[in-house]
Amino acid sequence: MTEPVDAVRAFHNAFRNDIRRIDEAAFETAKGTQGLASTIERFRFFNEILVWHATGEEAAVFPAIEKVAPLVAEPYVMDHRGLDRAYDELNESYSANDPLKTARATAAFRFHLAIHLDKEDAHLYRIFRERLSPTEKVEALTILAGKVPQKRFPEVVTWLYPLIGIDDRVNMTRIWQMVLPAPAFAGVQDLIKKAIGPEWDELTQRIPTL
Ligand SMILES: [Fe+2]
Repeated sequence: MTEPVDAVRAFHNAFRNDIRRIDEAAFETAKGTQGLASTIERFRFFNEILVWHATGEEAAVFPAIEKVAPLVAEPYVMDHRGLDRAYDELNESYSANDPLKTARATAAFRFHLAIHLDKEDAHLYRIFRERLSPTEKVEALTILAGKVPQKRFPEVVTWLYPLIGIDDRVNMTRIWQMVLPAPAFAGVQDLIKKAIGPEWDELTQRIPTL
């Protein structure tokens, strides 16, 4: 059964995959490989989404956790500020055309982000899943989702789907099918089809109502 909070896991997995690709491209570039700039430069949009996500967590998810598990969320906010610094270091290194510093920055970013996301999944979102009511969960997640500027939403769909596996794709699609009005969901379906090409068939097998 898909739950709305499964959307968070899908985004976390997309972040993990994107930073891994970016870091691998930065490492290869530092060793002299040419032509990977467009992969490294994914870090800009990646970070925009990461900031929307973190902002939404701080606005809605962490305050909801605070009510049922006081003091748990505070170190996660500190992690977020660490992610901001990791981005600044990466942005400065890349802008300075310094491949070695860039690769060090992507490695640090990846390491910190991986630990942060693993902790959130194993600890913070476990508390979220187990201790909040269905209504509290939906309220928090609606605020979280609303941090994506509406006109950027298509870019987010296009970014997300190629970075996640079939189970996350099924969950995300079911969630949007549940929460969006039919015309908006039809638009999302088109974006997903374009984003994953022939893999769309696998999704329709899992969700026959598509
Ligand atoms: Fe977070």
